[in-house]
Amino acid sequence: MLLTENERLRQNIMEWVDEVNYDRSGLIPILQKVQKKYHRVSSYAMQVIADALDIHPVEVYSVVSFYSFLDEKSKGRFIIRLCQTISCDMAGKSRVARQLENELGIQFGQTTADGKFTLEYTNCLGMCDRGPAMLVNDQVFTHVTPEKAHEIIEKCRQTFGVFALQDQERIG
Ligand code: FES
Repeated sequence: MLLTENERLRQNIMEWVDEVNYDRSGLIPILQKVQKKYHRVSSYAMQVIADALDIHPVEVYSVVSFYSFLDEKSKGRFIIRLCQTISCDMAGKSRVARQLENELGIQFGQTTADGKFTLEYTNCLGMCDRGPAMLVNDQVFTHVTPEKAHEIIEKCRQTFGVFALQDQERIG
């Protein structure tokens, strides 16, 4: 029998809840798993998690809205986070930012229409002596130049098909 998206989501959440404590200490690990698999934490997911952990949905919502790595809205398959803190700013962050915006045709805070890329600013990534620094999903890039940013985007475009296939296999 084919499950609907919400049924599948509920099933996944209940499996993940079984792996953690049935209390609020399990909240962030479960939210991270939902974000990773579904690329967002929907209001339905928040309700299911709240019920499973026996906490108020507002508590779940406040955690989702607090952490930048969790989002209720769907983000791109590649989330690019460019450091905007002073060392990276002085090392040429603005030129990299312009390159990324031109390359993708969006501004920071936006996601491309095809759902592939989201551009965001972030604060210090701990790579201050190697700026400009940026994250693409979990991978850190340092000494980023406009040319390097172009190459990174190209690489992401080439691997998108592989990711899409993995998503289909995981979700299907
Ligand atoms: S200021 Fe950019 S990594 Fe620290």
